[in-house]
Amino acid sequence: MADPKKLYIKTYGCQMNVYDSERMAEAMGGSGYEEVGSPDEADMILLNTCHIREKAAEKVYSELGRFKGLKAENPDLKIGVAGCVAQAEGEEIMRRQPLVDLVVGPQAYHRLPEMEAKTREGEKVLDTDMPEEDKFEHLKSRPKAKRGPTAFLTVQEGCDKFCAFCVVPYTRGAEVSRPVDRILTEARDLVERGVREITLLGQNVNAYHGAGSDGDYTLARLIWALNDIEGLERIRFTTSHPNDMSDDLISAHGECEKLMPYLHLPVQSGSDKILKRMNRSHDRDSYLRLVERIRTARPDILFSGDFIVGFPEESDQDFEDTMDLIRQVNYGQAFSFKYSSRPGTPAAERALVPADVADARLQELQALITQQQRARQDAMVGQEVGVLFEKPGRRDGQMVGKSDHLHAVYVDDCPSQIGDLRRVRIIESGPNSLAGVLI
Ligand code: 5AD
Ligand code: SF4
Repeated sequence: MADPKKLYIKTYGCQMNVYDSERMAEAMGGSGYEEVGSPDEADMILLNTCHIREKAAEKVYSELGRFKGLKAENPDLKIGVAGCVAQAEGEEIMRRQPLVDLVVGPQAYHRLPEMEAKTREGEKVLDTDMPEEDKFEHLKSRPKAKRGPTAFLTVQEGCDKFCAFCVVPYTRGAEVSRPVDRILTEARDLVERGVREITLLGQNVNAYHGAGSDGDYTLARLIWALNDIEGLERIRFTTSHPNDMSDDLISAHGECEKLMPYLHLPVQSGSDKILKRMNRSHDRDSYLRLVERIRTARPDILFSGDFIVGFPEESDQDFEDTMDLIRQVNYGQAFSFKYSSRPGTPAAERALVPADVADARLQELQALITQQQRARQDAMVGQEVGVLFEKPGRRDGQMVGKSDHLHAVYVDDCPSQIGDLRRVRIIESGPNSLAGVLI
């Protein structure tokens, strides 16, 4: 058999891209490729790009420029661009950067092996179609390679919400849910390969509405079906929109034992004026009430959020409203961004907040979040938590895993193996992690 060809994939952006990169690597495995950790020895380089904030496209061009030397050394090297920048600016990429052999949008990954074969015949290939079919159906796993204890599983893609700042509805297209049986088959396959925890992915995952052999499924019903898979110990999902937090999903947080007490529930702003201009279709009060209802169902749940500061026309008072909402919710984790104008989105037409004002707000918000995050972590000291061990730590005999609330937990002199789920008592809280002892 010929030596395997070498594939290097660099992934930018969200977990959806991480999942997609894994599927692309599997698909290319069928064409004799094996994944490597560096571009230097690669026969093919794929950049899986993100378009959510500005500068992403520029980063792609500068990264591509750096491959010029490699291509000069190895004329057989093929270079491809995948992901949301590919979807949004495919033709422009081909025009601007002659090094690129292939551009593939997020809905066309199953055609990657054919596209690669064409590049080997000297063609340049671009495929950014958005077909209705399930692209993952073609990306069947090859030999049953063993996997680590955690995995992502995409159940839904695209978004119909059209928040005024966001490119996702344009780059990922309309909301589509994968059928239930395919998801369950993939989940069982992952568990057979060693996976203990599955994170269900979707740009709007809680809007999931997939067809099953016994009727339509909501995300909650899908989670209950996954709950029955023996060997699967934990279920998570991300990212959710407040308006799609249905009653059955809230109840599942209280009743479904494998569903973990962590919820990423972006609000973006705490000001009703800004939320309206963002086209978020929920307001501050409805979000706060929702948080209360979820906490009633699952009192120890840890909330995570996304925030944008410096959205056009955000006043000091609007920003204060966001800070106040953060104080009320008390987040255990959050991601915050300075508003970045995206061409083609409605908000791009509006006047920007001065950069220094936005910078100062971002700093203030991040300081508050860090404080809340740390307080939540410190409050874990003395508590018993479940920890799923993922890898050895830096110290001899040490293991690292994630708690139910997604905190990193270190255990010294730990006899557990990767993939073990154990009860641990937390004894110490550091800046970004906890330390504990097995019970
Ligand atoms: N500018 C800044 N942040 C953005 N996000 C999405 N679009 C933009 C933008 N144009 C943030 C939102 C979203 C997260 C994934 O990225 O907070 O929830
Ligand atoms: Fe973008 Fe809004 Fe859809 Fe989230 S809900 S992907 S922010 S449009």
